[in-house]
Amino acid sequence: MANNSSLGAAKNAKNDEFYTQYNDIEAEMNAYVEYNPDVFRDKTVLLPCDDPEWSNFTKYFAANFERFGLKKLISTSYAPGAGNMQLTLFEMESPLYDKDLHDTHGKLFTVTRDINGSGSIDTDDIEFNGYLKGDGDFRSAEVTALRDEADIIITNPPFSLFNEFIVWLFQDDKQFIIIGNFNDATNLEIFPLIKNNKMWLGTTCPKEFIQPDGSLKSFGNTVWYSNIDHGLRHEKLILMTKANNLKYNKKLKKKFSENYHVSDYPQYDNYNAIEVPYVDAIPSDYDGIMGVPGSFLNHYNPEQFEIVGTVSAAGNPESLNLGNDYSQFVGYNQDGSKNGRTGSTFGKVPVLKKDDGIHPYYEKDGVRLQALFPRIFIRPKKGTDAK
Ligand SMILES: C[S@@+](CC[C@H](N)C(=O)[O-])C[C@H]1O[C@@H](n2cnc3c(N)ncnc32)[C@H](O)[C@@H]1O
Repeated sequence: MANNSSLGAAKNAKNDEFYTQYNDIEAEMNAYVEYNPDVFRDKTVLLPCDDPEWSNFTKYFAANFERFGLKKLISTSYAPGAGNMQLTLFEMESPLYDKDLHDTHGKLFTVTRDINGSGSIDTDDIEFNGYLKGDGDFRSAEVTALRDEADIIITNPPFSLFNEFIVWLFQDDKQFIIIGNFNDATNLEIFPLIKNNKMWLGTTCPKEFIQPDGSLKSFGNTVWYSNIDHGLRHEKLILMTKANNLKYNKKLKKKFSENYHVSDYPQYDNYNAIEVPYVDAIPSDYDGIMGVPGSFLNHYNPEQFEIVGTVSAAGNPESLNLGNDYSQFVGYNQDGSKNGRTGSTFGKVPVLKKDDGIHPYYEKDGVRLQALFPRIFIRPKKGTDAK
């Protein structure tokens, strides 16, 4: 039985021992190969934070070595990792096996040629090339040199070091396909890269990961991040006009009438944009800036929209300056009692004026407001038709 958790909790607990399932790797890689059948041709692929005895990444790429036309596959393991700790026959039977190094040193594996003379290159041709000089930390000089040698880096990096891993990838402008937490898309390090189309979301969301004891663990919010193109990011969102949304979009109408108490897309009080609570309610004929939920990033097509900025509950300092200073706000519960929230981050999120007083609200100088976060601000790409 899979047990539920969140990647955020794993990150905070520095629990990095979760292994990716073969099918999840296959489903995501298919999207890149479908879009560009030569995406891996003549490329050196590095799989850091890995270990072929445990990692399906190494197995998957070794199995597809010929189909993809790979030049070289390099895989490194991290000594303290759960997979690496287990001694397998593969390592033990190698002439390079050294029991003194096993516990403390990372390992290096490559696939380059048909070592067993079977006539094709596959998982039987994974070579154990011995131990790294250090523990296999991706930030070490030796793994960094392998990064520099590679064309594409693919892995599920340690959740607790996700931002550092991204910085490491961009130091050498590498192509990459990696797993991460969706919530990181709006964090200080990652959001500017997404906004500037230097990286984007992949196409699938792996949900279950293998734990060292073999059981599965479920995570919400797990996505792929990449800077390699795929077809989904060129698919246009099919949208209705503003008038038709207000007439036919039942979910939107319900939200507007029951929650916002408005009959049209409301304008924020502190930012010149309209509030769009659902991605499928983005009006095709609105030219200005719109605040949309974070899930928009799963549908972001840079030919259709541009990203103007974000505000997130975490108070990303990269957030747009929304003008009005709402930092002195007092928050109220549904029953009218104070909820204890004032916080400076509130000054950074878009707010709608509320005059009904029914729902939880914030108040300043007698004006009631509703805070909305996280939001991503987008506008239709100039010269294109968002329809
Ligand atoms: C989320 S797991 C994924 C493992 C494997 N890539 C997979 O998806 O099956 C991340 C791995 O990174 C390893 N790791 C943790 N810190 C590391 C570091 N500083 N450098 C390299 N690997 C690290 C962990 O031991 C863990 O095995």
